[in-house]
Amino acid sequence: MARCFVTRPLPGPALDRLSARHEVDLWSGRLPPPHEELVARAACAEGLLTLLTDRVDAALIEHSPHLRAISNYAVGYDNVDLEAASARGIPVGNTPDVLTDATADLTFALLLAAARKLPEAIAAVRDGDWPTWEPGRYLGAEVHGATLGIIGYGRIGRAVARRATGFDMTVVHTGGDSGGDSRGDSLETLLERSDFVSLHCPLTPDTYHLIDDAALSRMKSSAILINTARGPIVDHDALRRALISGQVAGAGLDVTDPEPLPADDPLLQAPNLIVVPHIGSATRAARERMADLAVDNLLAGLDGQPMPHQVNAGREWTRGRVR
Ligand code: DGY
Repeated sequence: MARCFVTRPLPGPALDRLSARHEVDLWSGRLPPPHEELVARAACAEGLLTLLTDRVDAALIEHSPHLRAISNYAVGYDNVDLEAASARGIPVGNTPDVLTDATADLTFALLLAAARKLPEAIAAVRDGDWPTWEPGRYLGAEVHGATLGIIGYGRIGRAVARRATGFDMTVVHTGGDSGGDSRGDSLETLLERSDFVSLHCPLTPDTYHLIDDAALSRMKSSAILINTARGPIVDHDALRRALISGQVAGAGLDVTDPEPLPADDPLLQAPNLIVVPHIGSATRAARERMADLAVDNLLAGLDGQPMPHQVNAGREWTRGRVR
């Protein structure tokens, strides 16, 4: 029986399977454990089940001598220092596939809401500001027939593309998972051609602030930016300037930098901006399936078996060190 630190209660019964086999130290707070608390609890743990809000950095890994498995309850794992884990021979798991469709659906929800000015229209009705049918009010962008640029053509990017075909959209994309490579369109071409630009690449040193002043200045002034990937892929100061100046027509963000975004963040003063609180995978089914995968990964890692979804699986270990 191994000791596991689980940093939050998860939807569904998956954690019962973990408790049936191991000793579970569950952080039951609504907010994440403070980093010092995470470090202290990890120091006694053999298994860690973390969320994207938990920073599993090199120092934490160094101070956790018993740690044998890390399972991240997310498809993204930019919160985990993969190099440090790999150097110790610790497998790291994630939860892909089960949230692909939920995230693609939310991407389209943001795209449609931004294009058709739904937040303003909803607020007007609630405020009693619906005097009559008006020919010139709430005039938005057409979604059908428009060009959608997908940056990061992995699982979620492709699922968004499938939805776009139902709207008779033309899809252009950068190749593979990354922010731009030779197999798809170049980032510059995509930005210049697209009526909607949707981000689906992971956050890496290469994609940090991929959407900056220069990128935004290439976009059409009628274009709308959607981000359901990771907040720091977009330079928020640049986005705020672009929205205020009319360099771009609008943005829909499920992810921000920082998260949570304080209510007085200057970005929220920008026009034509929709922000929701990182809810891309927030369907009951997706979150329960994520919990199942996260527990499967942790159980396998603690058993010394390959995790079903191990993000450092391709690495070679030599006496506990990555080659
Ligand atoms: C992920 O899994 O990486 C999402 O951002 C949250 O579900």
